[in-house]
Amino acid sequence: MEKKCFYITTPIYYASANLHIGHAYCEVISDTLARYERLKGNDVFFLTGADEHGEKIAKNASKNNMTPQEFVDHVYLNFQENWKKLDISYNKFIRTTSKEHMEVVQKVFTKLLNQGDIYLGEYKGWYCTSCESFWTDSQVGEKHLCPDCGREVHTETQEAYFLNCKKYVPQLLEFYKTHPNFEPGGKLNEMLNTFIKPGLEDLCITRSELSWGVPIKEDPKQVIYVWIDALLNYISALGYLSNDETLFNKFWGKDSTIVQFAGREINRFHSIYWPILLMALGLRLPDTIYIHGLLLTRSGVKLSKSLGNAPSPLPLIERYSLDALRYYMVREVQIGEDGTFTPKQFIERINNDLVNNYGNLLNRTISMIKKYYDGVIPQYKEPSNLATITLYKNIEETIKTYEADMDIYNLTKGASDVMSLLDLGNKFIQDSTPWVLAKDPNKKDLLDETMYVLVEVLRIGSILLKPILVTKADEALDQLNISTELREYNSIHTIGKLGGIKNNQPSVLFPRLDNEKEFSYLTELIDGPSKK
Ligand code: MSP
Repeated sequence: MEKKCFYITTPIYYASANLHIGHAYCEVISDTLARYERLKGNDVFFLTGADEHGEKIAKNASKNNMTPQEFVDHVYLNFQENWKKLDISYNKFIRTTSKEHMEVVQKVFTKLLNQGDIYLGEYKGWYCTSCESFWTDSQVGEKHLCPDCGREVHTETQEAYFLNCKKYVPQLLEFYKTHPNFEPGGKLNEMLNTFIKPGLEDLCITRSELSWGVPIKEDPKQVIYVWIDALLNYISALGYLSNDETLFNKFWGKDSTIVQFAGREINRFHSIYWPILLMALGLRLPDTIYIHGLLLTRSGVKLSKSLGNAPSPLPLIERYSLDALRYYMVREVQIGEDGTFTPKQFIERINNDLVNNYGNLLNRTISMIKKYYDGVIPQYKEPSNLATITLYKNIEETIKTYEADMDIYNLTKGASDVMSLLDLGNKFIQDSTPWVLAKDPNKKDLLDETMYVLVEVLRIGSILLKPILVTKADEALDQLNISTELREYNSIHTIGKLGGIKNNQPSVLFPRLDNEKEFSYLTELIDGPSKK
């Protein structure tokens, strides 16, 4: 297979507080894609990071008697811990307070200022004198009160720099037209109707009242607006405008496939301002901006830091295993759509798919091979029975569908394709009743092919699940005692090499979750002890 080059990015999360399962959701789906492409042998650079500037961070720091830098250094530890526990396979973690990144931001500003895409203008907005912050109409509401301190705000005008967005609108519209899969989830229309059709305004990209950000060299009292600072991480991380642009040339080059994930609340920045910024810099645009949905509470509210309604992923990993959480996120929340995090769905998804389907098939198969063959997988023979032939066909079809789905980032469907195959494996056991065949010496050949195909279903199914189940898929392959070579992705079309392998002892892959007990544990975790 020809090796392709992939650049996959997550948004950089605000280092204003610790991470929660909403952030973990975005990280897990991006990681799943990165692992899938690597599994297929592609060359992947997977980026994640922390957005460490902005007033909110400065304020949180002062509330905690820390300098902003001390504060973000502290939050950074939490980010590291979360991604380590979720086994996120990033190649680089970028921090916007790093010297390398800040230099790129300054260089970009100078470049765009010199070429006339940035100009000095006037910014008018609702201003709170006490908080020294500008707010938008919706933030101050009808009563014109500061959302932070509750004091009255007034309109104020300040000098600021603007990015000439209007100039790039025709080019942007042409790009959307010629790249219909740019945002595969169909969320561009909303952007067109809300922001572009009414007439896109130029974007104010500096503030003079802010202190915690990248200062502009040409005008040191101004700092760069946090969003421009943040978006540029995607190219500064690759060394854009640095002494060594090797990574940039490779992963932002024309032959690289660039896939960027972002939640729907930041769609505007990723599908409008980010492309405009790239156009102004004369750079290529990403192939895909995948706008994913959000995890909501049962009452339909976004899980968020500011609302304090979002649990950390850490206790969930501790209690249910990292793969159970990763699987839940990829399979239960239809990618591209919002999902509700409820205890019932969580428990059912784990029990139905991982315990009753995958774990059960593995356990039954190994136990029967132990009983009928002393643990040694029978030799492969050309199948003669229609049910066996059909199951082999199902394997091939599953691989095709799985790849087709994963290749268009439908990770949810990819996971369910594999589960359907495992389900067919369990049904095949029910229908072929190996325990009856085992009693009849004349049925020895049929028993051999029946047990053999089951091991192939498990081997191939486990390989396909590897991007999601980062430890358990290999644990299943360990129990079957499959060699390293036959765990590789390119072995999924090679059938017939497993005869003579002695399985290891079977053990429980995913323990069954007790409905009542886990329901109350999860409810308390989400709602807090008082609202049970
Ligand atoms: N710092 C900006 C992004 C800059 S990217 C150049 C930001 N940070 S954030 O921490 O508020 O959110 C980042 C991302 O976290 C969201 O786009 C989304 O992918 C993810 N999520 C935050 N809350 C979420 C949910 N409740 N559900 C799913 N994803 C969520 O915006």
